[in-house]
Amino acid sequence: MQKGIDNMKQVALAIEKEDKIGEIGENLFGSFLEHLGRAIYTGIYEPDHPSADQDGFRADVADLVRELKVPIVRYPGGNFVSGYRWTDGIGEKSKRPRRLELAWQAIETNEVGIDEFAKWAELVGADIMPAVNMGTAGPQEAADLLEYCNFPGGTYWSDLRRENGREKPYNFRYWCIGNEMDGPWQIGHLPAEAYGHKAAETIKMMRRIDPEIKAIVAGSSGPYLPTFPEWDRTVLELTYDWADYISLHRYYDYDPSQISSDDFLHSYLDMDRFIASVVAAADYVKAQKRSSKTIMLSFDEWNIWHSHDPIDPSHQWATIRPILEDHFTARDALLFSGMMMTLINHADRVKMGCLAQLVNVIAPIMTKPGGGTIKQTVFYPYFAGCRYAKGEALHCRVSGDKVSTRYGDADLLYTAATFDAQSGEMNLFLLNPTAETVALELTLAQFDELKPVRHLLLDCKELDQKNTFESPDSIVFKEESVAGGNQVSIPPYSFHLLSFKAN
Ligand code: AHR
Repeated sequence: MQKGIDNMKQVALAIEKEDKIGEIGENLFGSFLEHLGRAIYTGIYEPDHPSADQDGFRADVADLVRELKVPIVRYPGGNFVSGYRWTDGIGEKSKRPRRLELAWQAIETNEVGIDEFAKWAELVGADIMPAVNMGTAGPQEAADLLEYCNFPGGTYWSDLRRENGREKPYNFRYWCIGNEMDGPWQIGHLPAEAYGHKAAETIKMMRRIDPEIKAIVAGSSGPYLPTFPEWDRTVLELTYDWADYISLHRYYDYDPSQISSDDFLHSYLDMDRFIASVVAAADYVKAQKRSSKTIMLSFDEWNIWHSHDPIDPSHQWATIRPILEDHFTARDALLFSGMMMTLINHADRVKMGCLAQLVNVIAPIMTKPGGGTIKQTVFYPYFAGCRYAKGEALHCRVSGDKVSTRYGDADLLYTAATFDAQSGEMNLFLLNPTAETVALELTLAQFDELKPVRHLLLDCKELDQKNTFESPDSIVFKEESVAGGNQVSIPPYSFHLLSFKAN
């Protein structure tokens, strides 16, 4: 950490140990894998790959997922789930049907289904958040899947699971009741009233099988559809007694004809507003119902997403298709950091989150079929969130110079902080999304004496730089020295993780 310089822009940041936002949900930095593009096939699963294990899973990919310590993975969709028959993916592999998959217009071979995916999740040390089909299927199919997964035995579905090689129930806890049912693109898209009724009846059946499950109802796919936020209000009115969480999804695209680079980098402010609106909708229904129950938020799809081109006809009806393979820039990594920090700053209500997605499809990890892997630019901030955002989220009280953006005035630095009483570690996430070098003065109060133990810097000033297979380490974390002092100079376009530990 360097000394501040007088003629720099100034920001003061005060953090107090007792100035808490809320406890960070253990699954806040989960992820998502869909049967889409090369996420599963040639992503996590490639039996002919030199690193493949006996189940066909790539060890090189599993190593990277373990490095991140992803706590939970949403599966199997996404849009895919709304036309998925989960029973296609169980039992003898050679007998599984090849199906036309209509969400992404592919051929689904069903080589990977819930039992294989559960093996992979065990391999990487992650839990699974299954999503059930509310498009072409309904309460019965969802209840059957839950019985297959979580019921101990002695019934048709639970015994089938045991016959298929899994004796003990999986006991998956978190269940997504459909995906983006507000979106006209969704297979089996429904009006809010119809979805709300269907979701409530589905959860009712599921709870009778396993009263411990937590249900996530499908909220708005983003704040841009005309149905937002009425969708959320209506769905919650109809499901309030059954739901535990409502989902939110948000992606940002950098299209210079639509948004300046500086505004793109501040789009986390838009995400912040979106979260606040969904909280308001949920709490409106709480008040209307005179309920003591508070609905939490599951931000179970978030990322940067640039490739919105129609599916290349040469990729239609293939089994393995390279679609949505965005190559992220340093600029993307900066906004990604801001989005991640926004989740921390709403830790009181956003208890679950899933980065969409994990491998090859708008993902931090890219693979070559038969070849190697790379860590995309966004891998690094995601690593920081997964590994270090633990314990309580703390308020960051920021004062000083501001910058004007299309979302209103913003602090020059964006910050988030967490304190984990168990490890005694305080972690500070810092983003400078501007071209200014900023002198940061840091005041930490009420902590036992803290000493700096880690400073990871992601230098993104070459905004268009990417990590590629030819040059995989253009944007990586650099370890900075951790000399004491409360002045830190924050270079332009950079993301930082500063860790402190109680003596
Ligand atoms: O993550 C890619 C897609 O984005 C998902 O399938 C869908 O839910 C969302 O629109």
